[in-house]
Amino acid sequence: MIKRVLIWTSAGAFCAMFAVSTVANAAPINPTYTKDVLPILQQNCQVCHRENGANLGGMVAPMAFNSYENTRPWAKSMAKHVSAKTMPPWHAAPDHHGVFKNERTLAAEDIETIVKWANAGAPRGNPADAPPEKTWNTDGGWTIGEPDLVIDMGEQYFVDDDVQDIYVDFRTTITKDMLPEDRIIKAVEFRPGSKVVHHIIALPLGGIAPGNEATVYPDDIGRRISPGTNITWQMHYHKEPGPGTGMMDRSQAAIKFYPKGTEVKYELQGEPLGRFDFRIPANEANYSIKQEFTFNADSQIVSLMPHMHLRGKSALYEAYYPDGSHEVLLDVPRYDFNWQTAYQFEEFKQVPKGTKVVLTTAWDNSADNQFNPDPTETVGWGHPTTDEMSFGFMSFINESNESRSMFGGGGRRGNRGGGKGFDLAGMIKQFDANGDGLLQKEESPERMSRFFGMIDTNGDDAITIEEAKAAAERLGQRRQQRQGQQSSD
Ligand code: HEC
Repeated sequence: MIKRVLIWTSAGAFCAMFAVSTVANAAPINPTYTKDVLPILQQNCQVCHRENGANLGGMVAPMAFNSYENTRPWAKSMAKHVSAKTMPPWHAAPDHHGVFKNERTLAAEDIETIVKWANAGAPRGNPADAPPEKTWNTDGGWTIGEPDLVIDMGEQYFVDDDVQDIYVDFRTTITKDMLPEDRIIKAVEFRPGSKVVHHIIALPLGGIAPGNEATVYPDDIGRRISPGTNITWQMHYHKEPGPGTGMMDRSQAAIKFYPKGTEVKYELQGEPLGRFDFRIPANEANYSIKQEFTFNADSQIVSLMPHMHLRGKSALYEAYYPDGSHEVLLDVPRYDFNWQTAYQFEEFKQVPKGTKVVLTTAWDNSADNQFNPDPTETVGWGHPTTDEMSFGFMSFINESNESRSMFGGGGRRGNRGGGKGFDLAGMIKQFDANGDGLLQKEESPERMSRFFGMIDTNGDDAITIEEAKAAAERLGQRRQQRQGQQSSD
């Protein structure tokens, strides 16, 4: 039996912009700032474009649209961006209108209003027409409201001048002083401590990448946390290297709990739909791969989040139902690395047991991709943004309530990430057919080939003992984290 859970409680300020008028009003003939434009900005833009606006994993709007003086100089640029639908930032295909809770789109007449206003020289209008100033339901800038607990990395870290990409791990503990007893997490919000933070993975809390919003679990869904839980912070810093670019960082996470004594029905589960074994040819403008996952119980999909790097072009999730029918769950035709949105279903997607979800990710490794760091390079899986990734994170719930970590699988369903039972260094010896001490791709057994690119960190198509050991260690760390997580669940 599937229980329906429909309510996704509001993430503070974000709810303001979800509501998009569906009344087909015509745009006013002579729009003014006070009467026509300001209401649109309040509803759709100010959540980011204001003093202390939303910080979505480091994406902070560089200007506030809260007064005529601040807004006017941007009128032309606003008209350009709203017509091109690059603002507000939202990358799902228009067919999904109304499907996702966190949709950020403007109604056609609102676009027209802004364009007409800009073309007419951006007139102010009568101050008496202006709606009251919009106030934001935040506390110290947290969109989840006043947190119950704020934790950080535990120390200041200096990202040196010459750094472009660096991964640094920190470990902190949620002590009994911070958390006297078990509680169930309702919401988590990360705040990067500097603008050079590219992403944060803080297990078991979750993580954030550019463009992510806070995680607010729907009612009935949560995650238990106990005093003594260790938090491992994996920080990725990314910037242009150079003198004077160094910066201090001490990133934070804010947590809100359900009221004491609340029991939740579901533990959120995760499937990464990840692949590690791809090589994207140099100068290839449209290279795609697929990955699939089949549900082994009647489930409800809560959210989808495609993840690639700078060469990412598009992502498509399709469902193949046991009755033979087919449906596009999410189409992101113009993937943008800077906006890694978790698309949250307004009404959870019901998928019967046996439903197969197929993810197709595509890259543009040509010179036409303005973000491409080097079209002459063949690229495979790797952590740096100049390498690539292919994930289609999917969170869901079902009666089994297995708590599976998104990263590296795990939980009772067995280890999909290939950790347990893999003696990687031993496998090199066993399968090294030509005896050169390396494991070439042709030599690797099938169960390993999916992870080849992840283990082969220097991308030379051969795995050394060192690469295998490093990979085994990475998997081991994840397993420990998972165990820590399970024992604290
Ligand atoms: C979710 C947050 C968010 C929302 C909502 C949002 N913006 Fe932005 N906006 C940004 C960020 C971050 C930038 C700077 C980075 C970028 O350009 O992508 C930006 C940049 C801009 C720019 C400048 C682009 C340039 O050329 O430098 C304009 C103009 C703009 N936004 C207009 C709007 C308008 C108009 C709306 C509402 C209809 C809106 N934005 C809604 C986050 C947001």
